[in-house]
Amino acid sequence: MKDTVFPPSDALASKAHVDADRYAEMYQRSVDDPEGFWRDEAGRIDWKKAPTKIKDVNFQHGSVSIKWFEDGTLNVAENCVDRHLETRGDQTAIIWEPDEPGDEAKHISYRELHENVCRMANVLRDQGVGKGDRVVLYLPMIPEAAYAMLACARIGAIHSVVFAGFSPDALGQRINGCSAKVVITADEAPRGGRKTALKSNTDKALLHCDDRVKCLVVKRTGGQTTWYEDRDVDLTAAMAEADTDCPAAEVNAEDPLFILYTSGSTGQPKGVVHTSGGYLVYAAITHQITFDYHDGEVYWCTADVGWVTGHSYIVYGPLANGATTLMFEGVPTYPDAGRFWQVCEKHKVAQFYTAPTAIRALMGQGEDPVKGSDLSSLRILGTVGEPINPEAWAWYNEVVGDGRCPIVDTYWQTETGGHLLTPLPGAHATKPGAAMKPFFGVQPVVLEAESGKEIEETETSGVLAFKDSWPGQMRTVWGDHERFENTYFQQYKGYYFSGDGCRRDADGDYWITGRVDDVINVSGHRMGTAEVESALVAHEKVAEAAVVGYPHDVKGQGIYCYVTLMNGVEPSDDLKKELQTWVRQEIGPIAKPDLIQWAPGLPKTRSGKIMRRILRKIAEDDYGSLGDTSTLADPQVVDDLIENRQNRG
Ligand code: WTA
Repeated sequence: MKDTVFPPSDALASKAHVDADRYAEMYQRSVDDPEGFWRDEAGRIDWKKAPTKIKDVNFQHGSVSIKWFEDGTLNVAENCVDRHLETRGDQTAIIWEPDEPGDEAKHISYRELHENVCRMANVLRDQGVGKGDRVVLYLPMIPEAAYAMLACARIGAIHSVVFAGFSPDALGQRINGCSAKVVITADEAPRGGRKTALKSNTDKALLHCDDRVKCLVVKRTGGQTTWYEDRDVDLTAAMAEADTDCPAAEVNAEDPLFILYTSGSTGQPKGVVHTSGGYLVYAAITHQITFDYHDGEVYWCTADVGWVTGHSYIVYGPLANGATTLMFEGVPTYPDAGRFWQVCEKHKVAQFYTAPTAIRALMGQGEDPVKGSDLSSLRILGTVGEPINPEAWAWYNEVVGDGRCPIVDTYWQTETGGHLLTPLPGAHATKPGAAMKPFFGVQPVVLEAESGKEIEETETSGVLAFKDSWPGQMRTVWGDHERFENTYFQQYKGYYFSGDGCRRDADGDYWITGRVDDVINVSGHRMGTAEVESALVAHEKVAEAAVVGYPHDVKGQGIYCYVTLMNGVEPSDDLKKELQTWVRQEIGPIAKPDLIQWAPGLPKTRSGKIMRRILRKIAEDDYGSLGDTSTLADPQVVDDLIENRQNRG
């Protein structure tokens, strides 16, 4: 299976935006003449002042600086909305599919989108939000989430979306992290038949924030909430009153569009900063070319707007292209495991983009839920977020795609703004589990992990880095440029380091093998092991904790915690549950530990450094190959950990 190659069909290739010859020609130009290539591609969007300076990039640690289109000015919301009004004002911009299949879906035209974005922008202005101010969004998957992002863009404010599954603490940290003036939330978020009390979570978060932060509340369910008159604003009511026109601010290409917090290998999440011009050009071109999007098609990305995938491929990319983008409030398995396919049939989805974890979960339910729906509208399938195993790929290809829809396995990151490696549906063969080829302008290199030497041989493996910039690349960490440089440009000088390992096969195609740092990927969600550790040690009964990933059938990776209790505390199953609940509350449900092992001691070097390599091996139930343990302060500890391991194969 691994060596099977699926070439694109002639029918698809002949109609695709980019076929094999065109890819080769465009790719070559994009690396030989990046200025010329991206000057032309910048023409995809409307500029108030067209850029004359295209690219100014320095990857040298100590003076990293990334600028694209730096003297251009534009407005991102105008590009995603206003410029389509003349030609497609009545076309549906957003199809909204609610959590309950019995509730009515909404079709929001570009004209209605314009009206709603303007109304919300005016409400924000009334609250004193202006250019450069930060607005935190903590919302369900409802059209208002897109309105809010675009409303910020319209007035030049910077949004920071916080996934609605994060806890009040995590929300509060992010509000403080970017000193937001306003947080936009909803009363409740229905999801999978259950409701999360977003407003009440926000109330708790705001206890730890500046008193001046305002709270704008969308009425989604009408559920009861506590109301603080001098702080809370009924956003639904205020929008109804607001003017339907709002001038669009002229912003510089390099003005920030949004901050998105993401997990790293150390410390607390960092605020990834994306700017306006380059990001939009890159989101637009990748959305059109990777998914081979053609006018009039219905495109669906199942991600949440709380993640970068939702930013680039539900909102900005599709809307910049004048597409019809589907937004789904629910989950794949509610009310049953056929929901995704019912929605595909109902709205005649042509491009379907999801995560391997969802595919694996649905695969476990068999073929019947898929076969119950007519999926003949599907043309292209996509995956993102983690490596896809060949079995899941085969199921996606055969059962969902009926063997006729190419699968684009898109490799990218919050930091990269858009796809870096992916096959293009009309240009490239696909291989189960391979992210295949670089997108235009992207120059991947495989480095020797230890020496950092660039490996010239085609067939090889090592760590994945990138030689030059592309317009969608992040520019800095909010408020901490040094951290940006140290995280991505220090270890391997002159390159952007991805944190991922990879293999390049004899054909020169890329396969991602997973993170090589202390980041784990749980159901496609990025999690820093350090974050879970600091949540655990914040519990009064915990003395020390070390967290690693281990292979999990559905989630890809699960969260495995080694916990040393305070002197005198008795380990028990109840305490395990207490700690699981605790972490859930501290960070959010996605961080809930899967396995907890009581560890009387952790393997440490004589200088006190925890040897995570050993902990990973034990968690993987692969302790036969522990390697050298002679540098441990107390080698005995390892025997005890092996004896009591939780993940026996
Ligand atoms: C992983 C999500 C293999 C990778 C857009 C990366 C992938 C991290 C793929 C970024 C893929 C993403 N194949 N691994 N197609 N796509 N990853 O920031 O480890 O949430 O570094 O961005 O997900 O996760 P993030």
